[in-house]
Amino acid sequence: MTKILVTGGAGFIGSNLVEALVKKGEQVVVVDNLSFGNLKNLPLFVKFYQVDIRDFDSLKEVFEKEKPEVIFHLAANIDLRKSVSEPIMDAEHNIIGSLNLLELSRLYNIKKFISSSSGAVYGDIEIPNKEEQEVKPVAPYSISKLTIEKYLDFYEKTYGLKYAALRYANVYGPKQNSKGEAGVISIFLDKMLRGEQPTIFGTGLATRDYVYVGDVVKANLLAWEKGQGIYNVSTCKETNVIDIFHMLNSFFDNKFSRNHVGGKPGEIIRACLSNEKLKALGWQPEISLEQGIRRTYDWFKNR
Ligand SMILES: NC(=O)c1ccc[n+]([C@@H]2O[C@H](COP(=O)([O-])OP(=O)(O)OC[C@H]3O[C@@H](n4cnc5c(N)ncnc54)[C@H](O)[C@@H]3O)[C@@H](O)[C@H]2O)c1
Repeated sequence: MTKILVTGGAGFIGSNLVEALVKKGEQVVVVDNLSFGNLKNLPLFVKFYQVDIRDFDSLKEVFEKEKPEVIFHLAANIDLRKSVSEPIMDAEHNIIGSLNLLELSRLYNIKKFISSSSGAVYGDIEIPNKEEQEVKPVAPYSISKLTIEKYLDFYEKTYGLKYAALRYANVYGPKQNSKGEAGVISIFLDKMLRGEQPTIFGTGLATRDYVYVGDVVKANLLAWEKGQGIYNVSTCKETNVIDIFHMLNSFFDNKFSRNHVGGKPGEIIRACLSNEKLKALGWQPEISLEQGIRRTYDWFKNR
């Protein structure tokens, strides 16, 4: 049994990961400031600290008391658009907060640090994006995620901290928040289940690479076991928003009509991440978009 600290463990991906770690029989401690997370997402017996990762002293108390061996770091400002208007806020959560964890990992001899990065680090460059490609991050959120990857490399080279940084594509599935900077699938589902018409921004032809949260959890577990360095976590399949709309609408006897408004300036038109590197490690996406959307719909309906 390993003592594991999960930051952001009350959030969408974090709580799915906590569930899997508990099932594996690991001893899990969660740190989350509950700005977006929800305690209802967590199994009752998981040890929980309502601590903000920007607060070094409180974090240190958790390390001192719990002596974790491995860290899965998911806590972050996930709102890319907000990072544009509030870059300092984003840097405080995503850079300073992460650095606090890295410093404590050094002081407490953490065996492995698995960090949630993002496909947003690539920017609008040739697809499918590969890990070794030169990246062109545009938004402060993407810059802060890339910065942490650089710090991870520094901590490994200088202090021998083993790490994996996982660049997720668009993650969807049960427990996703439908507020704020959530994914289109949870936003549409939430609206449709309330009987409200969802809105498609722009043409709806922009594509994204949707990966099911259960597959992302498996990628985290594999990265802990034998990952080292940077990996994309994706299906490498493009799906546009109109297709997502139709898939979801079919659960409602196609009663919703397509409602388009404006567009979002600067939005990336096509997104697709290569997953060859993680596949070579022994991972592959197991849940198809159809299966994943069905599971997500069932969860939202029974929420
Ligand atoms: N969902 C996606 O499609 C996606 C894509 C790429 C990367 N990611 C990354 O995956 C990770 C998890 O994202 P998610 O979708 O589960 O988001 P989420 O908002 O559901 O989870 C993040 C959790 O972190 C907590 N948190 C935020 N700031 C904190 C702070 N300063 N101190 C302590 N806790 C804090 C929130 O309360 C929340 O529970 C994030 O690092 C995100 O950047 C997600």
